[in-house]
Amino acid sequence: MWILRRTPDMLQGLVSAGSFLSDPASLVSSQQPAYAQNPTRSIEPEVLVTVALCTHLGCIPTYYPAPDSLQPGWPGGFYCPCHGSKFDLAGRVYRGSPAPTNLEIPPHHYESASRLVVGEERNA
Ligand code: FES
Repeated sequence: MWILRRTPDMLQGLVSAGSFLSDPASLVSSQQPAYAQNPTRSIEPEVLVTVALCTHLGCIPTYYPAPDSLQPGWPGGFYCPCHGSKFDLAGRVYRGSPAPTNLEIPPHHYESASRLVVGEERNA
């Protein structure tokens, strides 16, 4: 699992990444609960909760958060070195990657302002 607190700059980068992504609106509904089918793929905009397994063959992508940290022009995100899949900081897959879908967002909810529960829905 990855739980990432995104900065305002990271959130701004999600807006500009849209045209480079395979499924920018997260229309493949199996990859996230309905409450995470939004531009940040999250309940709280700044907090990403995602399964750290590439949707190609299940390897663990590497976190490259800083702009240009992977290659010039890289906006920050996750890179799977196995076959080169790239994901943005919402886990959305870049077009041209072998991974077929966005990273999975698991069921989760906030039990309180400081307690995140992963793996079950609020009323489970
Ligand atoms: S397992 Fe990630 S690109 Fe193949």
